[in-house]
Amino acid sequence: MIIAIDGPAGSGKSTVAKRVARSLGFSYLDTGAMYRAVTYSALANGLDITDAQAVAGIAETQTIEFGYKLGESLPSSVFIDGEDVTDLIRTPLVDAHVSTVSSYPEVRAALVSQQRRFGMAHDTVMEGRDIGTAVFPQAELKIFLTAQPEVRARRRVKQNISRKAQTAVEYAVIDNTDEQQVLEEILRRDQEDESREVSPLVAAEDSIEIDSTEISIGKVIARIVKLAQAIVEQDADAKVKTQEDVGSSASSTSSASSTSSASSAVEPTDARRPEGLMR
Ligand code: DC
Repeated sequence: MIIAIDGPAGSGKSTVAKRVARSLGFSYLDTGAMYRAVTYSALANGLDITDAQAVAGIAETQTIEFGYKLGESLPSSVFIDGEDVTDLIRTPLVDAHVSTVSSYPEVRAALVSQQRRFGMAHDTVMEGRDIGTAVFPQAELKIFLTAQPEVRARRRVKQNISRKAQTAVEYAVIDNTDEQQVLEEILRRDQEDESREVSPLVAAEDSIEIDSTEISIGKVIARIVKLAQAIVEQDADAKVKTQEDVGSSASSTSSASSTSSASSAVEPTDARRPEGLMR
C-alpha cells in the first residue's frame, strides 16, 4: 500500500509522513532528499547546474541510499555514492538550486524509477511533490498537505535551527534561521515547483487536502492514520471475500488449477529488494 503525501515546502510533510509510517509500521521515503542529494553532488563536483545533461548524469549513475540505525524502522541518514550527506543536503545553497535540478525531466525519470521500485517492494509512506500525480497515481491514499506560507516559514526555521544545518559560510546564500528570508525562499521555491513543465506541484484530483495552518500536526497525523486504517480494513475484508469466493468455486471445480489460482489470489506479491535504496 502506498500513502502519498505531497505538498509545498514547510507544510509539515516530513513530520507527518514519518509519524504516520511509524504508527502503521510502514516504510518511509523522503523523495525530496533524493533531489537534494543529486543537487548537492552536482555542486560538490563543480558541475554547471544549468547543464541538464551533466546533472542528469549524476542522477543516473550515482547511488542514493538511506541509512537506518539498528532497531530503527525509519531512516536517519542519506548517502550519495557512499558519502553521508544527511546535513549537507539541507544547506541554503542546496535549497537555492534544488528546484532547478528537479525541473530536469531526465533527473526526474531516473529518480522516479527508483522511487517506484522502493514503493513496489514495501508498504510505504512516500512524501514529495508528485507522488500522487506521477510516481504512484494509483496510490491507495493521497494527501495534499498545505499551510499558509508564514506558518510554513516559521516551521522551517525551527527545523533549521534544530538541524544546525547552516554549517559553513560558503553555504550562506540566505540566513536559514531568519523567518523573512526563509519565507521569501519558500515562496520562490513554491513558484518554481508549481510552474515547472514536468510533474509540477499540484494536488492530485483524488487527493484529500489538509490545511494544517489552524490544526495541530498531531491532529493531521491522527486523521491520516484513521483514513489509512479504514483502507487496510476494507482491503482485508475484500481479500477474505475473494478467498471465500475462490474457495467455493474451488470446491465445485476440478482440483489442480483452482488450487493454484486460489493460492495466487491470496499470497502477497514477491517483495523485491529495491536497487540502490537500503532497507
Ligand atoms: O521536500 P523538500 O523541500 O526536501 O524538496 C526539495 C525540492 O525537491 C523541492 O523544492 C522540489 C523537489 N521535489 C520534487 O520536485 N519532487 C518530489 N517528489 C520531491 C521534491
